[in-house]
Amino acid sequence: MSSSQTWKKVAWRSPSNIALIKYWGKYGRQLPRNPSISMTLKNCYTETEMEYRFGNVSNGPVLDFRFQGKHDEIFAARIMHYLDDISNEKPFLKNLEMKVSSSNSFPHSAGVASSASSMSAFVLCLLVAENEIMGIEKDEEDFLKEASSFSRLASGSAARSLYGGFVIWGESAFIPHSSSKYALPVTEVAPVFQTYRDAVMIVSSKKKTMASTRGHKLMEDHPFAQERYGQARVNLSRMIEILRNGDQMGFAELLEHEALTLHSLMMSSIPGYIEIKANTINIIDRIREYREKSGVPLAFTLDAGPNVHILYPEEDKEEVIYFIKHQLKDLCENKKWIDDEMGTGPERLI
Ligand code: PMV
Repeated sequence: MSSSQTWKKVAWRSPSNIALIKYWGKYGRQLPRNPSISMTLKNCYTETEMEYRFGNVSNGPVLDFRFQGKHDEIFAARIMHYLDDISNEKPFLKNLEMKVSSSNSFPHSAGVASSASSMSAFVLCLLVAENEIMGIEKDEEDFLKEASSFSRLASGSAARSLYGGFVIWGESAFIPHSSSKYALPVTEVAPVFQTYRDAVMIVSSKKKTMASTRGHKLMEDHPFAQERYGQARVNLSRMIEILRNGDQMGFAELLEHEALTLHSLMMSSIPGYIEIKANTINIIDRIREYREKSGVPLAFTLDAGPNVHILYPEEDKEEVIYFIKHQLKDLCENKKWIDDEMGTGPERLI
């Protein structure tokens, strides 16, 4: 173990991801009630830089946290809570001081969920710091597995941001070694799906009605919970098959079914709540009408908020962007939408 007591620096860029098969409901220590599959994004990411020093304090961790250049006490408190939660597994934290500065590529108010990218970027920095301090050497596979597992403890969906392409988190008989503790890349993917893009229609940048932690909690007494967990398993195995065989219309149908199911679960929670807005529905209607008329296999999905993600293959990019500009943009808040695509996963910057 080095106790150099000098400041060192590490930085990572980590992407956001959008779930195709949704994780909704958890138990124990952030374990998912059903497996999920996501697509990793490229342009929506967090960059986190951590300066760290080991051995000068004994009652740590000590954290100075800045978001977009400014001290952010709410986020700092969330990270301190997380560090406290992992303190048994990571005893080196007691002697650690950190100056962390984090920023998102997408505007904070864009209504794009940022906990997956921000938490995974933070965890990547933390684990590099630990390995450096403790003189641990890990191969890339083990490092990413550990980063995924510790990201999961910070925010469930963050577990999936450690890999590029399509990613599974949770056990499935169809993907060897898949686990509820960490995510793994889905490697058998037809060429057309490897070109998929994501255009995010920003319907509202306001805070969601219900934090996702409460949303997950409401699944515990949800009248349809058991039915949903069984259905999600079936949908996941269907999605794995579709990704393998390249069935784009099958993909569209299943993707949209999952999105609408997630929001139906919110509406039928006790108490029920609504995250979608009128323009979420207007955009969905236009997407379906356009697909029907044009034959372009674009499809929508939603995360826990009102914004609409449109997934489509690269070969239809020009037509889809024309459609967005002429038929969807006006339904977005301040005509705002994000042009994104599939990404390759986190990148170490320093
Ligand atoms: O990671 P959390 O706790 O914010 O939950 C994310 C839940 C959804 O975004 C709605 C679905 C998912 O699988 O990402």
